[in-house]
Amino acid sequence: MSTVLRSIAALALFCGAVAAQTTAQPAEAKKVKVLIAYHSVMGHTAALAKAVQEGASRVSDVEVKLETTAGVKCQDLLSADALIVGSPVYWSNMSAEVKTFFDRWTHDCNVLPPAFEMKDKIGAAFVTGGEVSSGKETTLLGMVIAMLGNRMIVVSEGEALGAAATTGEGKYPVTPKDLEQGRRLGERVARLAVQFNKGRAAK
Ligand SMILES: Cc1cc2nc3c(=O)[nH]c(=O)nc-3n(C[C@H](O)[C@H](O)[C@H](O)COP(=O)(O)O)c2cc1C
Repeated sequence: MSTVLRSIAALALFCGAVAAQTTAQPAEAKKVKVLIAYHSVMGHTAALAKAVQEGASRVSDVEVKLETTAGVKCQDLLSADALIVGSPVYWSNMSAEVKTFFDRWTHDCNVLPPAFEMKDKIGAAFVTGGEVSSGKETTLLGMVIAMLGNRMIVVSEGEALGAAATTGEGKYPVTPKDLEQGRRLGERVARLAVQFNKGRAAK
C-alpha cells in the first residue's frame, strides 16, 4: 500500500473512532431555566410564588429558581429561558421594589436596545391584592408591558392576564383555588419554555 493510501486509511480509522465516541457519549441535555422573582412584605405574594414554583417543577427537564426581586443577580436573569414576576398591588400598580427590579435590568445588567438581551424569553406575571377590584389587572398589565418593552414573549394562565389572589389587606391567606391558578401559570410557562427551546435546537 502506498504512503498516500496508508494515510487515507489511518484518517478514516481516526474519524470512525471519533464518530463512535460521539454517539457513545451523547452530551447531557441542557435544562431549561425558569426564574420566578417576587416581592412580598406580608407573605401572600410569596405564597403564590411558591405555588408558581411547584407548577413549573411539574415539567421535566426544567430547573426552577425562586428568588426575591431584590435578590436576582444579572447572571440569573440573563441565563433564564423564562421569567415569571410577582408583585403585591400597591395603589393599583406594581410595588416600587418590582418596578426597581425591571429598571435594574437596564441600569445594572446592560439590557438595552437594540440587543434587548431579554428578547424571546417567555414572560408572565402574578399578583396579590387586598380588594377584589382595586387594581390587580392594571398591575398585571404594567408588568406585562415592561416585558413587552423588552421584546419578551408574554403568556398568561389562571386569569386572563396572569395568576391573581385577593387577600383582604392581609386578612385572608391565599385560597387553594388561587394557589392552583399559580401552579397552572408556572406549569404553562415551563412547558412553553421547553417547547421553544426544542424548536430552537431543531433549527
Ligand atoms: C402601600 C400599599 C398599597 C396598597 N394598595 C392596594 C391597592 O391599590 N389595591 C389593592 O387591592 N390592594 C392594595 N394593597 C394591599 C396589598 O396589595 C395586599 O395586602 C397584598 O396581598 C400584600 O402582599 P404581600 O402579603 O405579599 O405583601 C396595598 C397595600 C399596601 C401596603
